[in-house]
Amino acid sequence: MTVPSFGVGTFRLTGQAAVDSVRNALEVGYRAIDTAQIYGNEAEVGEAIADSGVPREQLYVTTKIWVDNYGRDKLIPSLKESLSKLRMDQVDLTLIHWPALGKGVPLAEYMRALAEAKAQGLTREIGVSNFNIALTRQAIEVVGQGEIATNQIELSPYLQNRKLVSYLRQQGIAVTSYMTLAYGKVLQDPVIGEIAARLQATPAQVTLAWALHHGIAVIPSSTRREHLASNLLARELKLGEDDLARIDALDRNGREVSPEGLAPEWD
Ligand SMILES: NC(=O)c1ccc[n+]([C@@H]2O[C@H](COP(=O)([O-])OP(=O)(O)OC[C@H]3O[C@@H](n4cnc5c(N)ncnc54)[C@H](OP(=O)(O)O)[C@@H]3O)[C@@H](O)[C@H]2O)c1
Repeated sequence: MTVPSFGVGTFRLTGQAAVDSVRNALEVGYRAIDTAQIYGNEAEVGEAIADSGVPREQLYVTTKIWVDNYGRDKLIPSLKESLSKLRMDQVDLTLIHWPALGKGVPLAEYMRALAEAKAQGLTREIGVSNFNIALTRQAIEVVGQGEIATNQIELSPYLQNRKLVSYLRQQGIAVTSYMTLAYGKVLQDPVIGEIAARLQATPAQVTLAWALHHGIAVIPSSTRREHLASNLLARELKLGEDDLARIDALDRNGREVSPEGLAPEWD
């Protein structure tokens, strides 16, 4: 599996803000970019990539299929439209954005369509997002063992999702954390603040380094070039066992996102 451990997210970024954020990210050294059909910014992501001059083969681009496109006649055409917006003929990873069992398309139908998109070369790898253990198991049954590259889930010091992470590890599925910074909340945490001050790092770097130490991939987003650059330096921050344990102890089921009709029953 090739899911990169560090990428940049683009949720909530549209128009020029999306172009600028991706351009800045590429300039400061990011090579993995996370977008989605529902973010409404695939064209801007494509524009920033095209203008950057970074060779396509150095990039790892992820998009996610939105729930309206799960039907067997819709998924592949929608991915082709994403590719046209992104100005590329293949993405590296395509995810099912939410299990969305309330939306009427059976899991087996959209997982088969996703596997077919891979077979057609539209995406190099496939995966899921916001799947619980039971649904990940069902998805594996449909597409086969070893086919699901990642499950992208909400995971932060306040929501560590240990049961699901342990299951994904057993299955050899990479764990990607979204909202690792709990949309900024954990940056106010006194324990993380104390560790950051002692190590002369930022709270964001400490949080991201904690996830990386646990083998979890991260995709923090930012509208600010200095944040993009400093977040990336988390890769070089070493946390001691004591500090890791203190952050582990911050777990409090602090979930930020759970849309009705889309989210599963969480583990
Ligand atoms: N699969 C899914 O369902 C799903 C759901 C949500 C998100 N995602 C993906 O995950 C990515 C990350 O999640 P997210 O963007 O929602 O949240 P996040 O990365 O946890 O937090 C982003 C927020 O943190 C701030 N921030 C970033 N770096 C900072 C720093 N060094 N110091 C202070 N503040 C900092 C940003 O503000 P500034 O702009 O001011 O820096 C922004 O408000 C998304 O962009 C998206 O690609 C996926």
